[in-house]
Amino acid sequence: MLLGIPTATTPAMPAQPADLLVRDATLPDGRVGQDLLVRGGRIEALGPALPAPAGVQVVQARGGLLSPPFVDAHFHLDATLSHGLPRVNASGTLLEGIALWGELKPLLTEEAIAERALQYCDWAVARGLLAIRSHVDVCDDRLLAVHALLHVKRRVAPYLDLQLVAFPQDGLLRSPTAMANLKRALDLGVDVVGGIPHFERTMAEGAESVRLLCELAAQRGLPVDMHCDESDDPLSRHIETLAFHTQRLGLQGRVTGSHLTSMHSMDNYYASKLIPLIAESQVHAVANPLINITLQGRHDSYPKRRGMTRVPELMAAGVNVGFGHDCVMDPWYALGSADMLEVAAMGLHVAQMTSVQGQRQCFDAVTVNNARVLGLQGYGLEPGCRADFVLLQAASPEEAIRLRAQRLLVVRGGTIVSQMAPAVAQLSLPGRPAQVDFTRQGPPAPARPAR
Ligand code: FE2
Repeated sequence: MLLGIPTATTPAMPAQPADLLVRDATLPDGRVGQDLLVRGGRIEALGPALPAPAGVQVVQARGGLLSPPFVDAHFHLDATLSHGLPRVNASGTLLEGIALWGELKPLLTEEAIAERALQYCDWAVARGLLAIRSHVDVCDDRLLAVHALLHVKRRVAPYLDLQLVAFPQDGLLRSPTAMANLKRALDLGVDVVGGIPHFERTMAEGAESVRLLCELAAQRGLPVDMHCDESDDPLSRHIETLAFHTQRLGLQGRVTGSHLTSMHSMDNYYASKLIPLIAESQVHAVANPLINITLQGRHDSYPKRRGMTRVPELMAAGVNVGFGHDCVMDPWYALGSADMLEVAAMGLHVAQMTSVQGQRQCFDAVTVNNARVLGLQGYGLEPGCRADFVLLQAASPEEAIRLRAQRLLVVRGGTIVSQMAPAVAQLSLPGRPAQVDFTRQGPPAPARPAR
């Protein structure tokens, strides 16, 4: 399937706000033949066969998938693209990654952090990823990374929503200046309170850090997003404490537990008590499939645990579950390219969510569910939403995941911010077509069940 947008051989359209009409799109919920009208940077109308106002620029989607932009609910922009500095992670473990980051920190400059983060944001936009929640390490008394990423946040604001989490990487109570630095970071404009209870010295100190951080967030009216139980230890139960303080302090809907990998190893009986508690407290869960399939289970021989949290079970209980990229080319992970479809693909493999419904839930986990985690306003394709969207070379969410589909067009507030040529191979085979792509030819996939 070739879509009616410019290819690499045609001149790029100017990046300027425009009134657009996207014709004949397929939506992630399965609706086909949809037109989307953008005026003044907002979505004005969505439906079949919309009239084209005079002067509007028409884009032919030709059945291609039109989605709200990808959102990453968990990332580390201060470390990204630093792979190999000052050395690589030989063991591949979380703990060597933390140690390596500690070696790198004294060598960092504000300019270098900002430059790498800006390059990553370029990649993100090209991949249709227009909102990122990034943790920023506050366990450096100079707060270099905080200053750098606040600069980046302002710089990318016209085209990318960047939310920052004050993250005490070395432990809130384990690092003597962490709490003071975390408060300084919040004073400077960092948006979210972070934590890492499983890295504190004891379970009791981990629980105490959760209490202190939730109370700080309540005082300041801020959200919470903790690295929580990123461990293979089934007794790492800080998510229980996080859910408890969320309810005690009335923070429902504003708190996220990131990773939650110990849940993979927990006894099923305890998990059957815990999951309803998470749902009741309205704590969001964020799994990081690419990272946790590589970092967890490193102490196992065989069988070797997968280490990702219980995604389908949490979703079935009504918990909002998002997927994060977490790392790209940094002390913890040598791979990645800002592709949230790669994240979704790994998530569905690790969680065995291979049904059509499961695959579409994984697509949601890198779009609408993550938007809920970030609390994004005006996100979506309905009239009134900001005109942010991505046109994919695919006919359905599951095809987009299967192909890591080309992002043919990325639009932010009505402005085209990125274009990519369709992926098409020129074949030289007797009796076969001259061109081939990898999209499905034939009857469309079944429509998505109503949600
Ligand atoms: Fe992380």
